[in-house]
Amino acid sequence: MTRPIPKEQGLDHSLAFLREGYLYVPNRRRSFQSNLFETRLLGERTICLGGAEAAALFYDADKFIRQDAAPKRLLKTLFGEDGVQTLDGAAHTHRKKMFMSLMFPGNIERLTKLVSREWERALDAAEGETVLYDTAQEVLMRSVCEWAGVPLGEHEVKQRTDEMRLLFESGTALGPKHIRGRAARTSAEAWVRKMVEEVRTNRLLPNEQTALYEFSWHRDEAGELLPADIVAVEVINILRPTVAVSVYVLFTVLALHQFPEARARLAYGETDSTWFVQEVRRFYPFFPVTAARVKQDFEWDGFAFEQGTLVLLDLYGTNHDPSLWTEPEQFNPDRFKDWTESPFTFIPQGGGDVDFGHRCAGEHVTIAIMRETIDVFLTRYRYEVPPQDLSYSFVDLPSLPKSRLVLKQIERK
Ligand code: HEM
Repeated sequence: MTRPIPKEQGLDHSLAFLREGYLYVPNRRRSFQSNLFETRLLGERTICLGGAEAAALFYDADKFIRQDAAPKRLLKTLFGEDGVQTLDGAAHTHRKKMFMSLMFPGNIERLTKLVSREWERALDAAEGETVLYDTAQEVLMRSVCEWAGVPLGEHEVKQRTDEMRLLFESGTALGPKHIRGRAARTSAEAWVRKMVEEVRTNRLLPNEQTALYEFSWHRDEAGELLPADIVAVEVINILRPTVAVSVYVLFTVLALHQFPEARARLAYGETDSTWFVQEVRRFYPFFPVTAARVKQDFEWDGFAFEQGTLVLLDLYGTNHDPSLWTEPEQFNPDRFKDWTESPFTFIPQGGGDVDFGHRCAGEHVTIAIMRETIDVFLTRYRYEVPPQDLSYSFVDLPSLPKSRLVLKQIERK
């Protein structure tokens, strides 16, 4: 005997999802007093899950698959088609290994050094004033292209950086912005695909241990090179999210500004910069949910899950779950001091196992860039934050402070 899943009444709730953004799932988990409920999104029956136990369930690869889970509009913008996010089983593990082969400490340090150099170059050239979001994107784009072995001509920095930004800003956008996002994907994929062809004909010789080299020469489980289109999607799976770290860069510098006490503890060495970074990733909104489909019928906690059902996991809400976090709406980096690490309670970049599941491949890269950001903006440069609209909405995806964070009187300490 199974019990009914709490169900949101009505024909379709896509508009409510757009209206409530990050809070759509947490609001209903609260009102149903349940870590799972059923709704309809984009015309489809959907089960929403949240909390640590539900996250552990969601990352059980015997129960959930990713094939056909992401909506077409995200594949056409954010993800690209036939990339690692859409694979399951052995094909996924094999492809994921290709990504993880780049994520060893020495290689992450190489990227961090490039980011450090680019920050200095950008801030020294800023003539005392900058819009942090825009500058961070260019800093990260220049750094990650060099790291990935991707040649980036000076004349194309702006165009290619804008393309990467559009990919992650346009996924859930409507109208012209979404259309621009699709055009950005077509253009960016053509740009990288040409490079892959040049690598394979020895006209372009990136170093080993760069994404362009390793992915161009990667062989699938059958021993075949990947189609150039797919290599382009996967190289962009390195470039785009690294440029997207600009969102966390923005929130890191915002937190330094908005929480002077936490900043002082950091400056006096009482708070570790890693705890600060973890709290930024927990506290501020970025990815609201991630999606999968039920692989085959099963029962969990008395509830029936039917094969093919779309299931969303509440990432933002789990990071703010009052049963998992003390005073979740307080910004408190020191909570991470004695934190018992769990793959299912703190999931800003997904949960579970990184090598065998879909957890983000770039978490260590993200943390390293954010720690470098703290070093730059706490230790190496002084600046003023003039009056501006720093509010951010829980509806926009991604959510960003309205002013994009203007800094003035920037100078080296
Ligand atoms: C801005 C910070 C970032 C955030 C918030 C973020 C978030 C995420 C999330 C939520 C997922 C999906 C997890 C799931 O579906 O279970 C993911 C997957 C992924 N991320 Fe990130 N990410 C970030 C940075 C990065 C970076 C810097 C890289 C690479 C350098 C990266 C590469 C990937 C890849 C390749 C996947 C697909 C993994 C798979 O399907 O197995 N991400 N990320």
